[in-house]
Amino acid sequence: MTSSADFKDRMLSLGLARVSEAAALASAKLIGRGDEKAADQAAVNAMREQLNLLDIAGVVVIGEGERDEAPMLYIGEEVGTGNGPGVDIALDPLEGTTLTAKDMPNALTVIAMGPRGSMLHAPDVYMDKLAIGPGFSVGVVTLDMTPVERVIALAAAKGCTPQDITVCILERPRHEEMIGQVRETGAAIRLISDGDVAGVMHCAEPGTGIDMYMGSGGAPEGVLAAAALKCMGGQIYGRLLFRNDDERGRAEKAGITDLDRIYACDEMVTQDVIFAATGVTGGTLLPGVKREPGWLTTETLIMRSKSGSVRRINYRTPADQH
Ligand code: FBP
Repeated sequence: MTSSADFKDRMLSLGLARVSEAAALASAKLIGRGDEKAADQAAVNAMREQLNLLDIAGVVVIGEGERDEAPMLYIGEEVGTGNGPGVDIALDPLEGTTLTAKDMPNALTVIAMGPRGSMLHAPDVYMDKLAIGPGFSVGVVTLDMTPVERVIALAAAKGCTPQDITVCILERPRHEEMIGQVRETGAAIRLISDGDVAGVMHCAEPGTGIDMYMGSGGAPEGVLAAAALKCMGGQIYGRLLFRNDDERGRAEKAGITDLDRIYACDEMVTQDVIFAATGVTGGTLLPGVKREPGWLTTETLIMRSKSGSVRRINYRTPADQH
């Protein structure tokens, strides 16, 4: 196994930004075209092509699905030239396929990389998630608390009233009760239609106005969000949710034995990682791909958990090359 010393995170971070940029540029052509699948496929193709240029011996641990479901960037696919450190890769080439198809805010391309064994092999099931930004004592809010208790505890820790707290939640029928309970406290809710990696990241990004994220979404997205918060600071907790035996079987196949376990950030992402995200459609975290006559411009967040560094890279490229 590669040790974390072999993981040249400084060297690899620019390469990771290129991978993320390429996926954003490719999927941006499909913004507002009403075709989720085409947008996702464009991102997958571009991300895979760029990943295969990197000098890494990479394995996709969070990807587009099981091998029999996804022909590219499937879980277990080996990527990179093979000449370099062994790394684990978690990716979502287009986080927010519907956001892209409908030209709605906060669609991102997302990828994280760390030494082998650094990321939870989360199966493609739902995960109950709870996240807050940095600066609070560990466990100030927990998954075992009710939504009301979480709002009250966070408000007390912030030294404000529940009315001053804003919670981000995916707008889904399964969250109606949770939304009602949060409303009882007087807290504000930012409902999002998709994209809970961005939803979680909003808690740790200054100026977004979001204090806490809660609710269930994809478990793979939970690991990606944990990789982001490992770099940005903050807390995230996740518990896998199973609807049937098939989903429990997926977890067992991924080597997970304790199905009720609550994972903290450092248990989903156990070593230092790098994380890149590029805006596809414009949003509160990142601007989207900008088109000007002759040019395309992207903005990418590139972060390293070892140093806590957060860079924003603008990339301008001739439009006729894409
Ligand atoms: P896609 O980009 O794959 O469409 O996922 C978007 C997303 O909103 C995720 O951010 C979230 O974790 C998941 O879908 C929620 O799943 P569901 O739509 O089934 O509630």
